[in-house]
Amino acid sequence: MQIIELSSKMSSVAQLLRKERKTTGFVPTMGALHKGHLSLVEEAKKQCDIVIVSIFVNPTQFNDKNDLKNYPRDTKKDIELLKEVGCELLFLPDVKQIYPEPDNRTYDFGNLDKVMEGYYRPGHFNGVAQVVSRLFDIVKPDKAFFGEKDYQQLAIIREMTRKLNYDIEIVGVPTIREDDGLAMSSRNMLLTKEQRKKSTVIARTLFESYNFAKSKSIEETINFVVEKIDNVSGFNTEYFEIVDGDTLQRVNSWDQSGYIAGCIAVYAGDIRLIDNVIYKKEMS
Ligand code: PAJ
Repeated sequence: MQIIELSSKMSSVAQLLRKERKTTGFVPTMGALHKGHLSLVEEAKKQCDIVIVSIFVNPTQFNDKNDLKNYPRDTKKDIELLKEVGCELLFLPDVKQIYPEPDNRTYDFGNLDKVMEGYYRPGHFNGVAQVVSRLFDIVKPDKAFFGEKDYQQLAIIREMTRKLNYDIEIVGVPTIREDDGLAMSSRNMLLTKEQRKKSTVIARTLFESYNFAKSKSIEETINFVVEKIDNVSGFNTEYFEIVDGDTLQRVNSWDQSGYIAGCIAVYAGDIRLIDNVIYKKEMS
């Protein structure tokens, strides 16, 4: 695996690959890699000739300085894991490489970046869009792979790609979970043993709510989820919304859309966990 630290070098290597007519699959990450990230690499390997992974803890998407400071970092282990899954290229820039000058670009994604994560983490998606567009400009991949675990992020990246006219196919990859259901996340390693044990309530409740929803209203389903999770001591639901899967607008009834998702953010002590469930997805 070739490791590249300079943006200029990354650009020229990617350009060479394009000249050689090799298709490239790009997987942007913030490191502390787990099987969720690796599943994106595996999907990219299936669909493209060459896989490029980036590891960059992007300061502009952290609206909380402590969160940035505490974000887990283990580059050595990440490199080993990427070698094991057969990643060909790792882009490992520092802040100066990505932001030679402060990035003042602001984006408006309509409703998409105003609700849920966008509401509770102001500026977060602006930072995500800044870094992903910067990475797209450097790497110019054929396809880029993002996890459905970060449901709203995926919707925003799709919209950004469309708005900024990138000729890049965005591929969504299903959420990888621990054996007990907890969605894999770099933040899981920050949980205490007790919090980790209790955290199974999130996925379990979302899965249960899928069946519950078959005979109950949206409002009843929301109350069912929030009550179950908030009943666990030390756990607090920040939001749970049932939304149209494309527009992320809240829906009031199950007939309102053919594509409906439930998105949740939960505080386990100070650690913020997100997850989602798809209630309905009709083929259009
Ligand atoms: P990060 O949290 O490191 O996630 C990198 C990618 O891995 C994202 O597309 C995320 O959705 C995906 N991912 C995380 N956990 C997953 C799981 N359990 N199953 C499947 N995919 C999973 O998301 C970011 O970084 C950043 O915001 C980034 C897009 C890199 C921009 O800085």
